[in-house]
Amino acid sequence: AQVEKGGYKHFMAKEIAEQPVVLADALRHYLPETGLNLPDDLDFSNIDRIVLIACGTAHYACAVAKYWFEEFARIPVEIDVASEFRYREPPLSKRSLAVFVSQSGETADTLAALRYCSERVAKTVAVVNVPTSSIARETDIMLPIFAGVEVGVASTKAFTAQLLVLAVMALKAGRDRGETDAATLAAHAETLRALPGLLNQALAISEPISHLAEQLAEAQDILFLGRGAMYPLALEGALKLKEISYIHAEGYASGELKHGPIALIDRTVPVIVMAPHDKLFDKTVSNMQEVMARHGMVLLISDSKGISAAQDGTWGTLHLPDIAEPFAPILYAVPAQLLAYHTAVAKGTDVDQPRNLAKSVTVE
Ligand code: G6P
Repeated sequence: AQVEKGGYKHFMAKEIAEQPVVLADALRHYLPETGLNLPDDLDFSNIDRIVLIACGTAHYACAVAKYWFEEFARIPVEIDVASEFRYREPPLSKRSLAVFVSQSGETADTLAALRYCSERVAKTVAVVNVPTSSIARETDIMLPIFAGVEVGVASTKAFTAQLLVLAVMALKAGRDRGETDAATLAAHAETLRALPGLLNQALAISEPISHLAEQLAEAQDILFLGRGAMYPLALEGALKLKEISYIHAEGYASGELKHGPIALIDRTVPVIVMAPHDKLFDKTVSNMQEVMARHGMVLLISDSKGISAAQDGTWGTLHLPDIAEPFAPILYAVPAQLLAYHTAVAKGTDVDQPRNLAKSVTVE
């Protein structure tokens, strides 16, 4: 069936807005009231390493998930982009699990990486949106993300749905390995179940972001900063923005600021800080102060506590609802997407079909 824009100006706007429903669908499947619903043969108890392989936005979903698998299951996790992984021919063992994340299921490098792993690891797992795709067909275990057709070249709802499936996998890994107790698992499951409502609330920042976008559209360079599991989200925020607005953007781990990007800061450089009020918040506040001392335009994206603790001297703030620490990246994906979207709209670029990019890269 032909997918329509349904009243939205762009598919990307529609797909951003669909995220509460998409996550509710995925939750119904993977996290029903009866508990975690994943195939029994997806067993983490006897493996000693997980490798997560993907390209583009899907790679950043893997980068977030690394934090979850390590925290919940205390298992070593390696992440790589498929184009590096496949030619590096890394040593693998029959005790490792290889996970491939791909919206289309047709990305050439990811498919090649899957084929490389097929006979070399305990099991291959594919997290895909298209269940009939090549990657879906060739993997041992296929986990659909239930995002529905994604038309916008810049991936949005597929990203948050990938994150959700990876989060549920990480919870199962924690349980299988006895590293996360039942009460903690139940609390994490509750947080994930609350996501559709939280994402709905988060969508309300579309309006304030559309006002900031006029000024962001004037920038030459934009920096995104994050710590912990918010670091990959900073990378994703920068990727989205450069893909569709053509403004140079870079994501950095907040702690790396003084190892390079601080040299770029002056009064024309917006610095977008994605920082829920978590255990690392105070560290991020010092990084923000370093930026503000050099007259950088800090845009702080945080929760009530974070904003009241640190808004002095910022150029702007964006307020998100509270969410339990490990899963903040799923919620903060929304402002990352909306910043890119509104900035591109302000610049007048082709949001759904940005120049030089393809929805699915099926050739090298
Ligand atoms: C292209 C798209 C991105 C996507 C990446 C990986 O670069 O423009 O939005 O994240 O491919 O695609 P996949 O289908 O494997 O997730």
